[in-house]
Amino acid sequence: MIKSILAAVSLFACSSASPLALSDKSAGTGPYPASWFTESSLPNFTFYMPTAPTDSQLPVVLFGEGGCENNGTRFEPFLTEIASHGFLVVANGPPNGTGKTNSQYQRDASAWVSARAGKPGRYAAVDASRMAAAGQSCGGLETYLQRDNPYVSYLGIFNSGFLPGGNASSNLPDGTTSEDPSTISQVHKPTFYFLGGPTDIAYANGERDYHALTGVPKWIGNFNVGHSGTYRQPNGGVFGVAAVQWLQWVLQKNATASLFFTAGGAQAANWTEVESDGLGSL
Ligand SMILES: *[C@@H]1O[C@H](CO)[C@@H](O)[C@H](O)[C@H]1NC(C)=O
Ligand SMILES: *[C@@H]1O[C@H](CO)[C@@H](O)[C@H](O)[C@H]1NC(C)=O
Ligand SMILES: *[C@@H]1O[C@H](CO)[C@@H](O)[C@H](O)[C@H]1NC(C)=O
Ligand SMILES: *[C@@H]1O[C@H](CO)[C@@H](O)[C@H](O)[C@H]1NC(C)=O
Ligand SMILES: *[C@@H]1O[C@H](CO)[C@@H](O)[C@H](O)[C@H]1NC(C)=O
Ligand SMILES: *[C@@H]1O[C@H](CO)[C@@H](O)[C@H](O)[C@H]1NC(C)=O
Repeated sequence: MIKSILAAVSLFACSSASPLALSDKSAGTGPYPASWFTESSLPNFTFYMPTAPTDSQLPVVLFGEGGCENNGTRFEPFLTEIASHGFLVVANGPPNGTGKTNSQYQRDASAWVSARAGKPGRYAAVDASRMAAAGQSCGGLETYLQRDNPYVSYLGIFNSGFLPGGNASSNLPDGTTSEDPSTISQVHKPTFYFLGGPTDIAYANGERDYHALTGVPKWIGNFNVGHSGTYRQPNGGVFGVAAVQWLQWVLQKNATASLFFTAGGAQAANWTEVESDGLGSL
């Protein structure tokens, strides 16, 4: 138990204490230059979206930050990159918000977006029938809790995995909810894991969860940079590239992007310990 609490503490501390790189103000490398904004009727979130109207529909990504931080610009380069490929990303927390979020945030965001998608106005091109939840570290634990969110079809677990000894009734020191690893049996949505290799504090937990997950399409890969990934590198670095491929495939049905996962694309981009199962049904 002591060991698991220590692991929990370092999972959170590690992510919130990582050095802040200068946020690059790139509009992303995709075809739709993107930026973020806020909405007064959903004040605890940051929205990333193509800046100009698009000729294509925009699927939706709900994102939880590392440390469950309430700072929607914490992953700005990574989330701007995703949006520039034709997505609406709703990140937990307002820009520079303080304090912590929980799994209710992604649920609230999904309902708010669904009520506006496809209707005249800013979200006319948004397609809320195509929605994924994703999160890094503590945000991955929030993302696991979207397994019962009816709006969400896919889960993305970045540098995360259930914490040993956690359970739904016990709270981690920062007040966020953790669940026991056996909870993986309740996950019935296709799940993709993006880990940081053996030096990632979540490596063992994410690998364990991937192997325990059954009955759904799944993929796992490691890029050996540790727990903090490359999210704050220009355009989110290699994790940005991988996340875009994942979302282009599952939400935009882009067959070229699927090759990253099914035909050695990830390995060619130096992802290691790549495994998958059931991807043919996606
Ligand atoms: C926003 O978050 C704060 C806590 O950070 C909470 O007190 C407030 O109720 C939230 N606002 C809305 C509209 O959900
Ligand atoms: C939010 O994240 C950005 C990017 O990492 C950082 O520059 C900023 O200081 C953070 N804000 C707070 C209040 O932590
Ligand atoms: C967030 O805080 C950082 C300094 O920590 C500052 O550079 C940045 O402009 C702030 N962003 C917003 C949106 O307030
Ligand atoms: C689950 O939570 C309860 C209540 O906080 C606690 O008593 C119990 O030890 C926890 N179980 C595990 C395996 O951590
Ligand atoms: C499909 O994905 C590939 C790989 O990311 C990309 O080069 C291509 O532009 C995408 N096609 C469309 C129509 O978005
Ligand atoms: C993969 O690693 C090799 C050797 O370090 C390097 O030359 C190559 O540029 C890397 N490829 C990518 C896509 O990062």
